[in-house]
Amino acid sequence: MEQFSFPFQRSLNGQLPVEVQQLIVAARNAAQHAYAPYSNFKVGVAVRMKDGRIITGANHENASYPAGTCAERGVLANINPNDKQQEIKSMAVTYLATSPDTFPISPCGICRQTILEQQLAQGAPITVYMCNPDGEVVYVEDATSLLPFYFSSKNLGK
Ligand code: THU
Repeated sequence: MEQFSFPFQRSLNGQLPVEVQQLIVAARNAAQHAYAPYSNFKVGVAVRMKDGRIITGANHENASYPAGTCAERGVLANINPNDKQQEIKSMAVTYLATSPDTFPISPCGICRQTILEQQLAQGAPITVYMCNPDGEVVYVEDATSLLPFYFSSKNLGK
């Protein structure tokens, strides 16, 4: 039998480089502005661009539930994967405490696919920091780690 394995790292917020800590703070601040009246689960994302800029977003729910958007896709919708000026280095995802499960949040399946579209188009890996409200962080330095057997433009012959 073949097996899939991938590298990931664990850390505490305070042990990460200052610019990463700033990114996580930005994600937490963004979560405060989430519109999540149905789930009450407020998610915040901060994206670090290659040029140093930080772009943030939060989940945006809807009375028609499937019309809601995750924080990750909300942010990525602002970025054109083909625009070299908009290359992404990393992203931090976090949430505000609501439940006893405090494992660091990880992007949902659809968001993983969306993050990968960006990574494959820009041709450079994206580090994804998955955080919890207690300052624990799990991270991967390549978004492909989050989605084995991902679907891509190659499958479409592009
Ligand atoms: N959500 C995100 O925004 N990002 C994730 O990575 C997981 C889930 C949102 C979607 C929905 O508004 C709420 O969290 C509960 O699923």
